[in-house]
Amino acid sequence: MTELSSNGVVAYDVVDGVAWVRFNRPEKRNCMSPTLNRDMMDVLDALEFRQDVGVLVLSGEGTAWSAGMDLKEYFRETEAKGLGATRQAQRESYGWWRRLRWYQKPTIAMVNGWCFGGGYGPLFACDLAFAAEEAQFGLSEINWGILPGGGATKVAVELMPFRKAMYHAMMGENVDGRTAAEWGLVNEAHPLGQLKARVNEVAQILLKKNPVALKATKDAIRRVSDMTYDNAEDYLIRAQEAANSFDNEGRKEGIRQFIDEKTYKPGLGAYDKDRSKA
Ligand code: COA
Repeated sequence: MTELSSNGVVAYDVVDGVAWVRFNRPEKRNCMSPTLNRDMMDVLDALEFRQDVGVLVLSGEGTAWSAGMDLKEYFRETEAKGLGATRQAQRESYGWWRRLRWYQKPTIAMVNGWCFGGGYGPLFACDLAFAAEEAQFGLSEINWGILPGGGATKVAVELMPFRKAMYHAMMGENVDGRTAAEWGLVNEAHPLGQLKARVNEVAQILLKKNPVALKATKDAIRRVSDMTYDNAEDYLIRAQEAANSFDNEGRKEGIRQFIDEKTYKPGLGAYDKDRSKA
């Protein structure tokens, strides 16, 4: 059953362990207004620790994933109210992207259509990203006279090689889903008609993994990127020890099912985590 956020601009369903969250302003190509940013934070809050949610997928209703920031409501109308309103609107949008970057559950961007500018914030915030081949990605800021702010420039540099990031940001040309995959903006591109099935397949695989290990792993991948090797080594020891305090039995069970029981091989798939609780 589809549920709506308080202002109706975010929609979501929970099915078989997956929360399918959607930007829900299709008539405005899902551009992000202050109202949408507040609603999205509410929805992320509501879903994060629900027992029936193991993976969160973010997509968009209609032809867009998100056409970026709402030029009217987020920029023009907010700026007209002054510095305080501008800073508040920034905090609300950056706030839910940050929440998503460090979300408790694995997250997947399912980019079904247009993805512009500010949309790169939530795109990067999701751990994995899958696009429709038909989707269009663009740093369109230069086309309306600003630099790619809101983290978008950082996302471009994090995800793409220098020359591609520079071209992408300076030229304001769009790339389709297939090129976005080649450039590293997303993991894979599939025809739109097959996109949801592939994303669900990935989500179902993630649901079978140890959730404590998944959270530690996704945080580690983000954290180590700007650490020296020695700092990363130390961080990873501490992170594993911290994870053990939440789930000390999981890895022991993983070893037991492989070494003693010989019921699976870690090189070929995950141990049966549900049996360890029995
Ligand atoms: N901000 C505010 N309104 C937006 C918007 C945005 N980022 N993107 C789309 N809209 C609105 C349009 O103004 C239009 O409103 P209206 O029906 O009241 O006239 C409605 O959404 C539909 O947009 P339209 O341009 O007619 O749809 P389209 O399918 O022909 O084109 C886009 C889709 C995404 C190519 C086009 O809307 C666009 O270029 N949007 C801006 C993208 C952008 O630069 N975003 C970066 C912001 S940082």
